[in-house]
Amino acid sequence: MPPKAIGARSEAIVSIVRRSTVPSSCAILNRTRCALISPARDGRLFKPPDRTWNMEIVAVAAVAENGVIGAEGGLPWDINEDLVRFRELTLGGAVIMGRRTYDSLPGELKRRLTVVVSRSPGEVETADRDAVVVASPEAALESARSLGLSTAYVAGGESMYAELLPYCDRMELTEVGREPDGDAMFPWPDLDDWSERYRLPSSSHPDVDYVTYIRRNGSRQQVL
Ligand SMILES: NC(=O)c1ccc[n+]([C@@H]2O[C@H](COP(=O)([O-])OP(=O)(O)OC[C@H]3O[C@@H](n4cnc5c(N)ncnc54)[C@H](OP(=O)(O)O)[C@@H]3O)[C@@H](O)[C@H]2O)c1
Repeated sequence: MPPKAIGARSEAIVSIVRRSTVPSSCAILNRTRCALISPARDGRLFKPPDRTWNMEIVAVAAVAENGVIGAEGGLPWDINEDLVRFRELTLGGAVIMGRRTYDSLPGELKRRLTVVVSRSPGEVETADRDAVVVASPEAALESARSLGLSTAYVAGGESMYAELLPYCDRMELTEVGREPDGDAMFPWPDLDDWSERYRLPSSSHPDVDYVTYIRRNGSRQQVL
């Protein structure tokens, strides 16, 4: 079922996407056309571990050494390389975010399905952007799955990580070796349930590492 609160334009996407017979492809609304595009390139590396759910759920976050992820509604740093990486990681998937993070974006995320979570979905302004608004984190996952997307990216902020990390299979973290002031924190899960798979130092920021964590088998909370 499509999410309850959904814009008319997004409803059109749902029906177009549903007609697709290529479930592993990602159908994303473009302002002027609806196009089938390839799955995110990293999606080929990791098969969804839960065949009944059949969608990988990935947290993407930039986290300071002191756990800070946000300050006064924005990011506490300006690391363009990280924004580029975020774009590359999430292309072709669903990007799930809380309403405050959505409000902080300068514009729409192109070639991705943006799913906004709000307790007052009817009040979220989406007129100038293509986004689906849903009333709960679980509905956000369901809306991504119902569209046949192979990967859903949990993109913050603090509340969305807190609600959805238990369902995540993978974390793609930008670990920032700084201790900024902030008011939004990353709710680190128990790392005994995770194994660090890759750690790639940034080529331009000596205090930044890009780190992939994979959940150990059996510790993921099942969705629905
Ligand atoms: N460093 C990073 O990687 C990163 C990534 C993303 C965001 N951030 C930062 O994180 C901060 C924002 O985090 P945040 O926790 O304050 O806000 P948020 O998670 O972006 O959004 C919070 C909003 O989400 C909705 N929501 C939360 N739980 C819900 C639930 N169970 N059911 C329905 N709706 C729910 C509510 O919207 P309504 O009020 O509309 O009901 C709530 O006010 C910002 O500073 C942002 O820049 C950092």
